[in-house]
Amino acid sequence: MTKTRIIIRGVGGYLPEKVLTNIELATMVDTSDAWIQQRVGIRERHIAAEGQFTSDLAVEAAKRAMTAAGVTSDDIDLIIVATTTPDYTFPAAATLVQMKLGMHHGMAFDLQAVCSGFVYGIATADSHIKNGLATRALVIGAETFSRLLDWTDRTTCVLFGDGAGAAVLEKIELADNAPEQGILASALRSDGHHWQKLYVDGGPSTTGTIGHVHMQGPEVFRHAVGKITDVVYATLEKAGYTVADLDWFVPHQANKRIIEGAGAKLSLPPEKVVMTVSEHANTSAASVPLALSVAVADGRIKKGDLVMLEAMGGGFTWGASLIRW
Ligand code: ACO
Repeated sequence: MTKTRIIIRGVGGYLPEKVLTNIELATMVDTSDAWIQQRVGIRERHIAAEGQFTSDLAVEAAKRAMTAAGVTSDDIDLIIVATTTPDYTFPAAATLVQMKLGMHHGMAFDLQAVCSGFVYGIATADSHIKNGLATRALVIGAETFSRLLDWTDRTTCVLFGDGAGAAVLEKIELADNAPEQGILASALRSDGHHWQKLYVDGGPSTTGTIGHVHMQGPEVFRHAVGKITDVVYATLEKAGYTVADLDWFVPHQANKRIIEGAGAKLSLPPEKVVMTVSEHANTSAASVPLALSVAVADGRIKKGDLVMLEAMGGGFTWGASLIRW
């Protein structure tokens, strides 16, 4: 007898070439390297070049994930791009990625859950594959978040960056006595009552403009730690594990203090927490797959490890996914 499991076969990340340091930022807006590092743990962020769009970043990350997985675009039949910054209002950035990968087959759509988008994407692809709608998926988190920023607003522009990360998910049949592998459980949540705490003041149906990011920073902070820990516990419980079983915690890279706060509330040793926020800043939906691809590439995350992905963002949306690597 065998059991069907959805595994992550490979991951990859891409960061645009241009690096914007805090020191450079402090020449543009009234801030300082010390303030940013102390408050959010960010040292620098990457910024997409003029003419470089979200789908371009997504394609680079997707190619790296497919190489790591040993597959080509011929093998993919589902593309989910989690993004808040699509190239166009429509079509979906995912269909542009499909085109740029030379594909005519399969399906592609965007998923909008802001910073939680990649975790939502993993759970969505997992269900699609389990339900027979697809066999092998590219789940991509990609953002040109710099284009939503008001570069005169020091309370938001210092926090974000651009980038993309991707994962190839596929179905395998595991022998009943084989070691556990793949996505074990996910939990997704949202509560739209909090929308004004973190939002963009534009859109096709309201202003006809793209708008800029607005955030009630202390309110976001207050909600983040509790919501993150709740959904992590819910996911562990579904799979019959506890925090002590985790080898790696790969959280959304919003801000060092939120990550440390959640880690402390979960009683997770800091050495089990993957942190890339200082070099990447908050890349929204791209942050989890970027952090994941760094920790896989440097050999920290290995086959057999128990890995918890987690994210929280605008909406609010939040979620977690537990994976046996
Ligand atoms: N540089 C220097 N000073 C600044 C800056 C800046 N970039 N931004 C704000 N300040 C000033 C404020 O103007 C204020 O000055 P005042 O006292 O003279 O009015 C002072 O710093 C304190 O402002 P607060 O907003 O109270 O600062 P706080 O200590 O709460 O830190 C921060 C702000 C870092 C944004 C914090 O609230 C936070 O981390 N919130 C979570 C936000 C976050 O991570 N969002 C990411 C998106 S959400 C997500 O992905 C989960």
